[in-house]
Amino acid sequence: MTRQAFRGSFLDFVGDPFFEEDVNSVRYFPDGLMIVEAGIIQALGSYEVLHPQYPDIPVTEYIGKLILPGFVDTHIHFPQTEMIAAYGEQLLAWLHKYTFPTEAKFKDKDYAQRVASFFLEELLKNGTTTALVFTAVYPEAAEAFFEEAERRNLRMIAGKVMMDRHAPDHLIDTAESSYADSKRLIQKWHQRGRLRYAVTPRFAVTSTPEQLKLAAKLLQEFPDVHLHTHLAENVDEVRLVAEMFPESKHYLDVYDQAGLVGDRSVFAHGVQLSDEEFARLSQAGAAIAFCPTSNLFLGSGLFRIEQAKSVERPVKLGLGTDVGAGTSFSMLQTCNEAYKIGKLRRQKLSAFQALFLATLGGAQALRLDHYIGNFEAGKEADFVVLDPRCTPLLAFRNAKPADTLAAIAEQAFTLMMLGDDRAVHATYIMGNRYAPDAKC
Ligand code: GUN
Ligand code: ZN
Repeated sequence: MTRQAFRGSFLDFVGDPFFEEDVNSVRYFPDGLMIVEAGIIQALGSYEVLHPQYPDIPVTEYIGKLILPGFVDTHIHFPQTEMIAAYGEQLLAWLHKYTFPTEAKFKDKDYAQRVASFFLEELLKNGTTTALVFTAVYPEAAEAFFEEAERRNLRMIAGKVMMDRHAPDHLIDTAESSYADSKRLIQKWHQRGRLRYAVTPRFAVTSTPEQLKLAAKLLQEFPDVHLHTHLAENVDEVRLVAEMFPESKHYLDVYDQAGLVGDRSVFAHGVQLSDEEFARLSQAGAAIAFCPTSNLFLGSGLFRIEQAKSVERPVKLGLGTDVGAGTSFSMLQTCNEAYKIGKLRRQKLSAFQALFLATLGGAQALRLDHYIGNFEAGKEADFVVLDPRCTPLLAFRNAKPADTLAAIAEQAFTLMMLGDDRAVHATYIMGNRYAPDAKC
């Protein structure tokens, strides 16, 4: 691939705006230029300064558009795409009434492949270029997902769901089969191109202690795979876990006793965590995927953002859509609901903080920040081109160009409150504009 350049407004993060002043953590070029070669970022700077160094380079112009690193969704379920917006229940009833019957269809690899394809198109349409993905209990579903992600050259992490109890018989594996199937999938897919594997026990309720121990054995055997599960989402779930594991001091301790809490572990939700559990997550370097649309939709509760982002005991934090309990594939809409959860708790989540979570924060939570998350030279050129005037209302609201950090803070906030897939003008994967798959 030859060298190419992109011109537009660029916004990314070089520090954490929860802990550092915006001027130190946010980088903004109102008229910027990014140089990309063979899918890798070579340089980012102001057009005026950088262009003279590359006088003959072909430039793709996005003047008036806002270019961000591709969004990172730190928790989502691809088989649940077809049951998004299922009415009426809280977590445990919702799982039995809607989720398990839907996931049972994913033994059929062709079916799984069609849904994986639709799902990935939906992510890309929303500017999400990386996600940590639950597949289903059947290895076929994981195979289908990895094949579709590889076909699109995406940086994705996924895993076969491990669940050996408290679900319908046709939907459970055994501790041994889940270990063997996961191992085979790791050997085939982990570190293949841009793909990575996450050992994925569904949650404490659906795994025996033996299965959790074998999940930990996989982490020991393959130290660079990830761990992905659910944690302390709903009060009834927390109560049930306490009954099922009386020897554990709290929910997180169930995973800790098995050996699943480390710096490559990502726990979805954490809405009902105690301070002690937050402290342990901080100490272990583990991450939480905060899933606001899901937490509101299922009535799970209001995540304590300020606890995760405490100066004394910070916990790595990303944002997850958690589709199908989450109600949108859009990370902009996910930022919107995160903001409102903050408001209900008398907290403020700035646009920069929210967009940090949706980009570099998410990449850090997934331990992928060497590759993606911002526009540092050497990283992969996955990015999203947003149109701050994509609807009549946004055009009216954003009539003026954003020339300063204060102005882009305001414009970015309007995008996260009012924007969704309509605001995504283009999505780029390793410097290539993604063209939607004709089949989807
Ligand atoms: N806990 C266990 N399984 C699930 C799931 O599929 N979705 C959500 N939101 N929580 C879970
Ligand atoms: Zn989930």
